[in-house]
Amino acid sequence: MRLSHKVAIVTGGGSGLGRAGALGLAQAGAKVVVSDIKPEAGESTVAAISAAGGDGCFVAADVSRASDCERLVNAAIGRYGELHILYNNAGIALPFDDGFAPRVDPAVWDRVIATNLSSVFYCSHFAIPEIAKAGGGSIINTASSMAHLPLGGLDGYAASKGGVALLTKSMASGCGLMNIRVNAISPGYVDTPMNAMIWQSEEMKAAFAKGHATGLQTPEEIAEVVVFLASDESRSLTGAVLNCDRGWTAFKQPDMFR
Ligand SMILES: NC(=O)c1ccc[n+]([C@@H]2O[C@H](COP(=O)([O-])OP(=O)(O)OC[C@H]3O[C@@H](n4cnc5c(N)ncnc54)[C@H](O)[C@@H]3O)[C@@H](O)[C@H]2O)c1
Repeated sequence: MRLSHKVAIVTGGGSGLGRAGALGLAQAGAKVVVSDIKPEAGESTVAAISAAGGDGCFVAADVSRASDCERLVNAAIGRYGELHILYNNAGIALPFDDGFAPRVDPAVWDRVIATNLSSVFYCSHFAIPEIAKAGGGSIINTASSMAHLPLGGLDGYAASKGGVALLTKSMASGCGLMNIRVNAISPGYVDTPMNAMIWQSEEMKAAFAKGHATGLQTPEEIAEVVVFLASDESRSLTGAVLNCDRGWTAFKQPDMFR
């Protein structure tokens, strides 16, 4: 299998892209440490990994806190002895609180930046020395089409994802000598609980679908990109921010998005 003998951490692994990514990595042979702020959700992903014959465990962590990220990496080493893959997936979108800068409470801004951007720094900070000790590996960060083409009205989210894209490139440079590749994915709009909260109606969902060349994305297709980035097949890629968005950022959006 492509990822046999590899150990992976997936943050936010209890739902959506993280759950599909954890299942995909396990199916490719990796041992997967699933982490989430919601224990029930994370445990359910581990149960699905086990039911499919894979090897996984759950560690509760709030990745907006540096101390939780340190505990998560230590728990992964404690359980499996080494670490090769870090999938920084956990993130939040707060459509009712985040918005146009003058209307955003600074506390909301801080929460979005801590959860979506500082978490990537925290987990990488603690994981990089461990991945280096294992001889190298792959870090996959989660940016967004919003890092390249903001919708408007989610200023904190757009800034956090733009930060993830640049942090990815910057860390890739330092990680090269340790044989660690660092890349980011920028999905378009995927049918997950996060977007269900944003869309609120079938009409809105259909309008978002129309903005992609070939329709809405699935968590499983993004998981395939993640498994590719985790595997040696992507050895030419580091410092890349992949627009895996079915064309969302490639052409003009319908009127409602201008
Ligand atoms: N869904 C999309 O269309 C889309 C597009 C581009 C990027 N993304 C990004 O992909 C990632 C996953 O999105 P999703 O749609 O699967 O969302 P989701 O809401 O379905 O899942 C996110 C998971 O992260 C967990 N989480 C939230 N805050 C956390 C914290 N502080 N610590 C640990 N875990 C936490 C949640 O409990 C949940 O299980 C996010 O970073 C999101 O910004 C999503």
